[in-house]
Amino acid sequence: MATDTFNSSSAELPLSQTWASESSLQHTLSEYLTGRPTWQYIVTLLLGVIIYDQAMYIRRKGSIAGPPFKIPLMGPFIQALHPKFEGYLAQWASGPLSCVSVFHKFVVLASDRDLAHKVFKSPTYTEPCIVPIAKDLLGHRAWVFLQGKAHTEYRRGLAPLFTNNAMSTYLPVQERVLADYFDKFVSASEANGNKPRQFMTLFREINCALSCRTFFGEYISQDAVKKIADDFYLATAAMELVNVPFSMYIPFTKQWRGKRTTDAVHAEFARCAAACKEHMARPGAEPNCIVDHWVQHMFESNAYRERIASGEKDVPKPANLIREFTNEEISETLFTFLFASQDASSSATTWLFQILAQRPDVLDRLREENLAARGGDKSRAFDLPMLENLPYTNAVIKELLRHRPPVIFVPYLATKDFPITPSYTVPKGSMVIPSCWPALHDPEAYPNPDVFDPDRWITGEAESKTKNWLVFGAGAHDCLARRYVPLSMAGMIGKAAMEIDWVHCATEKSEEIRVFATLFPMDGCQLVFKRRA
Ligand code: HEM
Repeated sequence: MATDTFNSSSAELPLSQTWASESSLQHTLSEYLTGRPTWQYIVTLLLGVIIYDQAMYIRRKGSIAGPPFKIPLMGPFIQALHPKFEGYLAQWASGPLSCVSVFHKFVVLASDRDLAHKVFKSPTYTEPCIVPIAKDLLGHRAWVFLQGKAHTEYRRGLAPLFTNNAMSTYLPVQERVLADYFDKFVSASEANGNKPRQFMTLFREINCALSCRTFFGEYISQDAVKKIADDFYLATAAMELVNVPFSMYIPFTKQWRGKRTTDAVHAEFARCAAACKEHMARPGAEPNCIVDHWVQHMFESNAYRERIASGEKDVPKPANLIREFTNEEISETLFTFLFASQDASSSATTWLFQILAQRPDVLDRLREENLAARGGDKSRAFDLPMLENLPYTNAVIKELLRHRPPVIFVPYLATKDFPITPSYTVPKGSMVIPSCWPALHDPEAYPNPDVFDPDRWITGEAESKTKNWLVFGAGAHDCLARRYVPLSMAGMIGKAAMEIDWVHCATEKSEEIRVFATLFPMDGCQLVFKRRA
């Protein structure tokens, strides 16, 4: 009907008026072609830029998979704002190396396992690439931005914070956080009339609390933990691949909110570092959290240096000889831990509860094994030696991390032309992204890769496929916490299996994957928790 009206009214347009507009158009055109060089310049320049950008794309793409032409200038920018998991699957399936170009950024994705290893392990050609705003949020001098020798040395000083000895001292504080949050899970369900509700938010919170307490023990207040847990997603949301210049200074933008959040966390962490130094300086103080161990190593190193300086001979060298770090440096470093851990651990926790609820056969075996490891006392706290008697729990953890890897790829930057295969060189300045998901879902290494099957780690061949195990990356920047993560997951799974019951209420979106830095079920994980009799 509306179309009819439109057509009839345009048909009735007076002839003179139509003619007049044609004539003015001709006039404008001729003005443009003859007397308006500025327009010409602008249009010609724009066309030139588009053609140049397109030609550069085709040249950089070379023989690898990717669209033959890019959407002028911006490429798939809109899709990049709302990434779809299926989009990544399609991209990986398109070839061992494939590409996209968003604005001026050329991105090469390596889906092949061996090529992914090559990117992770070629420090002469690549370095981890973090979005531009990352330095403003993490701190410009933060250690994760170091490269080569400086990075290796800094990291060497942090590795002793994740030895068995150190990690065993983190477990008691984690046990308390788990007890507290399992109560919260049950109360949240009760408050909702024991009807399903999304638990993803509470899973983010429990992980934030676990991290903050593991890092800072009792130096950090419960209010601060809650505030950080509530706000931390703002920091994640600010880390967009492409953002408006100076948006960090424009009130209420994602980047502005992210910066305010991270500034507040830095200040709180620096305050905790000062409290720790004061505590650890007291005679007989024992380390109970990560920062305690780190500060203890600083004090031992200082004492060693002083004794050497005073001319003493044969002074035993401390195992971790490091310099003294300021409260701000400690804060920055522990913040990088929080940043590296928060999304990945929250994703792992979400899938853990969803999948175990869907698989009562697996949960029953976990309960049996964990009860036996606790000598029949289900209230016994988890400790490190217990891990030896938890082979099935260990297999479940590996399978969870394989089946739903929290990190599906890691962006790197080609710092120079990088001959990744004999026939293709990643151009300098491109982003080159080794993917973890395809290797972890490779049917040759893991038959029926989409089936959650913990037994593949016990009776199957999965354990021997070490090259496919890219859950924690590879090379000089691989996850610092690759031994800590399974340990704290074992503590969580064991305690949950012993003390709580939970039911997953599947929706049509439960198996749909949402990408928010890591992977989450699209419906936010609909669960009901109850205390176990
Ligand atoms: C399920 C949990 C986690 C997963 C799947 C995970 C995975 C990863 C991956 C894939 C990388 C990049 C590796 C590379 O570039 O080769 C990484 C880096 C890192 N992770 Fe984790 N991570 C987890 C938890 C944690 C936790 C709890 C911490 C700290 C307590 C942590 C600290 C780090 C650090 C500091 C780096 C950067 C290391 C460097 O640049 O040298 N991660 N992680």
